Amino acid sequence: MTIDTAVLDWRDLCAIDDIPVQGSRRAIINGREIGIFRTSSSEIYAIDNACPHKQGPLTEGIVHDCSVTCPLHNWVFDLKTGVAQGQDEGSVTTHPIQIRDDRVYIQLKG
Ligand code: FES
Repeated sequence: MTIDTAVLDWRDLCAIDDIPVQGSRRAIINGREIGIFRTSSSEIYAIDNACPHKQGPLTEGIVHDCSVTCPLHNWVFDLKTGVAQGQDEGSVTTHPIQIRDDRVYIQLKG
């Protein structure tokens, strides 16, 4: 039996309160830039921190509902799915998050 250890690899990122409500934090993991977002209801999401349009830094965007608006040209991305909303097309990779004892753990997708 082959076990994919990457699937089991949850990485301790930070405390929930390190991420501002309706805000974000940036993390570099294995050289990859990830945006960690917290909604007004304290749901936590992780997505790649580069807009698929022209690489805008999504952590510098505005968090609203369960979305973030890119700071460069205002594309809006669903934080759950990573998919661009409205007429814009594209998506960012989302990464699974777990909350344990008020800490945020991430599992990076390939
Ligand atoms: S770079 Fe994000 S909308 Fe253009």
